[in-house]
Amino acid sequence: AEYGMILVETQGRVGVIRLNRPQALNALCDRLMDELGQALLAFDADDAVGAIVLTGSEKAFAAGADIKEMRDRTYPAVYRDDWIGEKWETVLRVRKPVIAAVAGFALGGGCELAMMCDIILAAENAKFGQPEINLGVIPGAGGTQRLTRAVGKSKAMEMILTGRMMDAAEAERSNLVARVVPTGQLLDEAVKLGERIASLSAPSVAMAKEAVNVAHETTLREGVRFERRLFLSLFATEDQKEGMAAFVEKRKPNFRNA
Ligand code: HXC
Repeated sequence: AEYGMILVETQGRVGVIRLNRPQALNALCDRLMDELGQALLAFDADDAVGAIVLTGSEKAFAAGADIKEMRDRTYPAVYRDDWIGEKWETVLRVRKPVIAAVAGFALGGGCELAMMCDIILAAENAKFGQPEINLGVIPGAGGTQRLTRAVGKSKAMEMILTGRMMDAAEAERSNLVARVVPTGQLLDEAVKLGERIASLSAPSVAMAKEAVNVAHETTLREGVRFERRLFLSLFATEDQKEGMAAFVEKRKPNFRNA
């Protein structure tokens, strides 16, 4: 596919999507979100890809939804079009792990997009924030919910009510990100992480992702029941037999995603 606002490539078994609208700090306009959605679904459907990395530039992962495009939107139109549901939530439909590799600004919708991914790796120069309050609005793509679940109520309140940004060290301390890496190594580290995941059995990876995501959405009892169903179902796969045989035989497993 031909894209204008993103760059797409594969590195080994990792699909890499780079937001590429530098003149606007990767502000997330409709066209960019449409392209991102297409690229995500294409990698999700590609058997050669086992994990996806989503990144931006060194200056900005994404500085939020495009304010210039948003300013004149009307309520009837955004409601009719289900604007956010339609443009913003494609990443939630992806079955493979999606790693957000964040350098520079991840603000507003940019922070929300990163939080919709499965793992956030942060560069040392990363800055996270939900500055919508400065625009007379509030986060609209899950920020009040996902930031609160990630960092807790008090810090989420402080950030969302004031628009203050959080640097990478604070983001790591607050459990918003998995890890901080030197800025120049961000993409390499993200791809390495993706490669590790892609080398494992795809059915178990997809189920592990699904089960962790359920933890946010249900009770402990239901979540544990869900996990147990998935766990037991993996005994129907060849990869379970192979993985356990390889351990016993002291060799590397040869997973066939079956
Ligand atoms: C449109 C944006 C933009 C945005 C930056 N630009 N962010 N355009 N929408 N969100 C544009 C600027 O207008 C400018 O274009 C160019 O990118 C460079 O930005 P500067 O402001 O000159 O850069 P700098 O001084 O380095 O400041 C960086 C910044 C600042 C701190 C990140 O750009 C900023 O505050 N941006 C807005 C952040 C924000 O409020 N995000 C939340 C949006 S609301 P020109 O043409 O002037 O040179 C949101 C809600 C999502 O995300 C809800 C779900 C859909």
